[in-house]
Amino acid sequence: MASHTPVRRPVVGGNWKMNTDGRGAVALAAEIVDRCAQKCPQTDIAIFPPFCYLEQVGQVIQGSGIKLGAQDVYPGENGAFTGEISTSMLKDVGVSCVLVGHSERRHILNEPEELIHEKLIAVFEAGLQGVLCVGETADQRQYGQTETINRDQLVLGMAGIPQQQLEPLVIAYEPVWAIGTGKTATPDDAQAVHELLRSTLASAYDKEAAAKVPIQYGGSVNSENAAALFSQPDIDGGLVGGASLRSDSFSNIVDAAALSCRETSSESSFQTP
Ligand code: 13P
Repeated sequence: MASHTPVRRPVVGGNWKMNTDGRGAVALAAEIVDRCAQKCPQTDIAIFPPFCYLEQVGQVIQGSGIKLGAQDVYPGENGAFTGEISTSMLKDVGVSCVLVGHSERRHILNEPEELIHEKLIAVFEAGLQGVLCVGETADQRQYGQTETINRDQLVLGMAGIPQQQLEPLVIAYEPVWAIGTGKTATPDDAQAVHELLRSTLASAYDKEAAAKVPIQYGGSVNSENAAALFSQPDIDGGLVGGASLRSDSFSNIVDAAALSCRETSSESSFQTP
């Protein structure tokens, strides 16, 4: 009997990090709409501008099918949390997906696992898509801890979250040593971790539910290496940093993801609010 191919649309996110200015953000968003909007039927596309440009960028991409994402969130309700942004504020400006536990927040801002877990819960409770980012450092890989670190980050992030909330989940495997360094994981090494993450989900929930969760790769993805990475069976697109700041390279990466699409589902992985 032929094995059933899971239906997963590729997901491509452009994480702009702390880059652009107001004018540049609007211009980049407009170029991305021009180059990428027609690819939305094959691929879920989201861009993650800095908080202060969310509203402007949201206006530019409105109606294009490209989703507006936030790079972070605070898990509390509105109130006395100086400097923080709540899920309701994000929804108010049209955000539909949120990065949680990005490696720069884990390692530069020392964000603990417990806070990452609370953020993911808040994102799901608000009905938003959560992109849980996991990944090992160079030292952890060197000391043979790659599997443990990635498994633990996934398990701790998702602890106690029920199966019905797997639907708005996207996982991004981003090895820390590959981010912004030009060193990309080989397609085989990345696939091994993606497979591990999917089997971890299958053990915690069930195989069918795990097969539906998109797992993106991130870390020096560019126009040249995207196709080989995305052709792996458990790599469902990419979370792109540097190469998402140019519409031509981002568009090439989206094309590579669309081509890797094994079966197209009519449902979007990134949801609009
Ligand atoms: P680079 O693509 O610049 O390596 O960044 C990856 C990343 O951190 C995306 O979230």
